[in-house]
Amino acid sequence: MAQLDASLSGSFAIGGDLKVNRLGFGAMRITGKGIWGPPEDREEAIRVLKRLPEIGVDFIDTAESYGPYISEELIGEALAPYDKGTIVATKGGLTRSGPNEWPQLGRPEFLRQGALMSLRRLKLERLDLWQLHRIDPKTPRPDQFGVIADMQKEGIIRHAGLSEVSVADIEEAQKYFKVTTVQNLYNFANRQSEEVLNYCEKNGIGFIPWFPLAGGELVEGHEKAREILKKHNASGSQIALAWLLKRSPVMLPIPGTGKVKHLEDNVAAAALELSDEDFATLDAIAGKSK
Ligand SMILES: NC(=O)c1ccc[n+]([C@@H]2O[C@H](COP(=O)([O-])OP(=O)(O)OC[C@H]3O[C@@H](n4cnc5c(N)ncnc54)[C@H](OP(=O)(O)O)[C@@H]3O)[C@@H](O)[C@H]2O)c1
Repeated sequence: MAQLDASLSGSFAIGGDLKVNRLGFGAMRITGKGIWGPPEDREEAIRVLKRLPEIGVDFIDTAESYGPYISEELIGEALAPYDKGTIVATKGGLTRSGPNEWPQLGRPEFLRQGALMSLRRLKLERLDLWQLHRIDPKTPRPDQFGVIADMQKEGIIRHAGLSEVSVADIEEAQKYFKVTTVQNLYNFANRQSEEVLNYCEKNGIGFIPWFPLAGGELVEGHEKAREILKKHNASGSQIALAWLLKRSPVMLPIPGTGKVKHLEDNVAAAALELSDEDFATLDAIAGKSK
């Protein structure tokens, strides 16, 4: 197996001062079906979390709504007091009304309660990175962005980010607080957020592509890409991750899983170095399935 060390993916300083290895971990999959309730195999989920610092993964993405609460609780149980330097980023702004249901709620008192409760579950004094899961169209934007700025001033959160936003949304939010990360759907097969990624790169904002493993099949199904797979002795998903990492220095992929074996497969991608030529070949194939 390739070397297992997420630090081989290089590092990025969120907000200029919060350094993380670029290949992180998404903690949505350590919950039950429909991202609802406890995971089928709780012990394995704990093993996944404890394995992270051993293989250089020091950046975890979670949300109060994953479970809900379950993902944060497991992280707190497995990793607090984070003596290996793990950074946990969380999100708020969604309620849960059942499996696979995610109503938005951006009222400031709900966002504040969410952040305070995340602190308790994660066993932290301050949230290093808190992200607004969605901008709620029913709540005035100044209320949502304003309470984020307030929470920063009060020391509840250190850095703040957004999720599923446009360039215009980012610029509007920047009037209230410094946007340090943006989390949008983006992967080898889906490049709908290309413009937002370019904006983030230009402005030093961390770009967290969610659903980063999608596209593995697209890689495996393409003749020219298959040659690259063979050369690297890698799977389609590993090459899709390596392509993301080479695509931009602000890219922070967070593949998620509830299984140690899958975690290790994913982290092995940090050791894959695509040549400029391979990258160009893949780039021409990427996103063409849309
Ligand atoms: N901001 C947002 O709106 C938003 C939305 C969705 C997700 N996210 C974040 O992004 C993270 C990643 O997104 P995602 O979970 O949707 O997509 P993903 O990480 O690309 O894919 C996860 C899926 O792939 C499977 N998997 C993972 N590694 C594998 C491997 N090596 N071999 C085979 N199967 C593998 C997982 O199942 P197993 O558990 O069986 O491995 C799971 O079903 C989430 O954890 C969450 O933190 C954010």
